[in-house]
Amino acid sequence: MLDRVKEIYQEIEHFQIQSKDELEQFRLRYIGRKGVVTDLFEKLKQVPQEDRRAVGQELNSLKDFAQQRFKESSTSLENSFSEDVQPPVDLSLPVIPNLYGAQHPLNLVRQQIISIFGRIGFSVADGPEIETDWYNFGALNFPDNHPARDMQDTFFVDKKSNGAPADLLLRTHTSNVQIRLMEHQKFNTTFQPIRAIMPGRVYRNEAISARAHCMFHQVEGLYVDKNVGFKDLKDTLYHFVKEMFAKDVKIRFRPSYFPFTEPSAEIDISCQICHGSGCPICKYSGWVEIAGSGMVDPNVLINCGVDPEEYTGYAFGMGVERITQLRYGVNDLRLYTENDVRFLRQFQGA
Ligand code: DAH
Repeated sequence: MLDRVKEIYQEIEHFQIQSKDELEQFRLRYIGRKGVVTDLFEKLKQVPQEDRRAVGQELNSLKDFAQQRFKESSTSLENSFSEDVQPPVDLSLPVIPNLYGAQHPLNLVRQQIISIFGRIGFSVADGPEIETDWYNFGALNFPDNHPARDMQDTFFVDKKSNGAPADLLLRTHTSNVQIRLMEHQKFNTTFQPIRAIMPGRVYRNEAISARAHCMFHQVEGLYVDKNVGFKDLKDTLYHFVKEMFAKDVKIRFRPSYFPFTEPSAEIDISCQICHGSGCPICKYSGWVEIAGSGMVDPNVLINCGVDPEEYTGYAFGMGVERITQLRYGVNDLRLYTENDVRFLRQFQGA
């Protein structure tokens, strides 16, 4: 009898209970009124009187053991998700976060610029980064001896046999796209007003440091139509800086010189880093330059086949790195190209 009890202990211990069916089978076999344990209790009468007490105790603990196993299995089945399948993962483990990327800050700001100007009717135009001397300099009224044409400042793609700069160069600004847009007018039967911004990369022969880079980004703007005046330029740029920065941003137009605009102005805004209290970004002046601008020089219009007696225009060109610096406080230009994820991750969700 005791051997049989031992056998059943083992059976109970090893019985697989992974579904409600198996649990029911277990119940019928070890707990139910027709089960093996009840059967053993029946047989207790046949055990000799002197052993009956000890065997009875053994049977009672066998019964407890079976009930205990039943209880445990039924609660663990109830806690599992589906009737038959144990969850394949440990649900108490911490979640592995999804690793979302972030937009590059320069891309982010470029998109913001495009959408601000888009809302006031500016389309987006593009032009080549490898450009001829004419589009980058000549048509923009640069004199032959202008220092920007020097190899110290500009990357030329190759040299002529006499060592002089060849015609092809990496554009030094996005103003080349102005020329390409305006000369397109020749394909139109009547003049179509131009109102576009032109984002893109530009290149200059500079040593890389925290404040200078040989490759950076600009957004050019051009508006040519009848009766475009300097007031339109001021209105548009004032609107832009209020949208881009704080509503209380201050703007000032400082007289300046560019070969392709007359009159010309540089545009400063109140420093968005120190708000006037003085910091290295604004060199303690409270003002930061963000763009060059002016009325398109009549010579430039003529170079593009646009009649300056009938049409006028304004143009501007702004540095995307500078605007990003003021927007997000990025103080070292090299961060933009180093691909350090600790830097880039800060723009997640921006
Ligand atoms: N091209 C100039 C630069 O790279 C910026 C600029 C100034 C663009 C005046 C313009 C402008 O369109 O009107 O420094």
